[in-house]
Amino acid sequence: MKATYLDPAVGQYLFAHTTPPDDLLDALTLETREVAGDRAGMQISPDQGRFLTMITQLCRAEHVVEVGTFTGYSSICLARGLGPGGRLVCFDVQEKWTAIARRYWEKAALTDRVELRIGPAADRLRELPADRPVDLAFIDADKGGYAVYYEILMSLLAPGGLILADNTLWSGRVADPTVDDAGTRALREFNDLVMADDRVTSVMLPIADGLTMIRKH
Ligand SMILES: C[S@@+](CC[C@H](N)C(=O)[O-])C[C@H]1O[C@@H](n2cnc3c(N)ncnc32)[C@H](O)[C@@H]1O
Repeated sequence: MKATYLDPAVGQYLFAHTTPPDDLLDALTLETREVAGDRAGMQISPDQGRFLTMITQLCRAEHVVEVGTFTGYSSICLARGLGPGGRLVCFDVQEKWTAIARRYWEKAALTDRVELRIGPAADRLRELPADRPVDLAFIDADKGGYAVYYEILMSLLAPGGLILADNTLWSGRVADPTVDDAGTRALREFNDLVMADDRVTSVMLPIADGLTMIRKH
């Protein structure tokens, strides 16, 4: 999702000065729009995709977890940042959308490093082995589940490991006292939970819809 709170001209300028997506990601964006209609807005934005690849490379992550895969844009960006032997484990409840992701992993020659686990992430994340620490996790699923995913991932995260939580600005609604719907409340509670957690240092980045970077001490 793009930053809705940015002046459109500034947003265009930002895209014009960020390395653009390649043909494969452009094709995925197009296909997602065709099959998912309005829901295509769930896909991360191109600048965020570039950021995910870069951060995966920068922290030399070997074991990466994604919660919320949809048609696969963010998973491709994460997987492309992995070094040799690196692995990305993706969680989602939907076979319909993730079938598209699987097809694009094939096209992108990433099937050797990406695995998909279907089912509610709150259950399936607990199946990850405790003896293989997670270096980097990206949370981009149902907003009401963020706090649960965060706690499970914190227990699996290596010291110095990172959790990236998407949509933490929620189009600015988290900061608007007149808004009080369930999604907004869940994100405010999640943002407060992270702030109060003395196990971590965090920074909320105004990329796309807000991306909180959380580093475990
Ligand atoms: C915002 S989309 C993810 C977008 C994706 N990161 C991308 O770049 O295209 C959210 C995804 O979370 C999934 N989801 C919703 N509830 C879930 C749950 N309880 N467990 C796992 N995945 C869930 C949805 O099926 C959907 O595909």
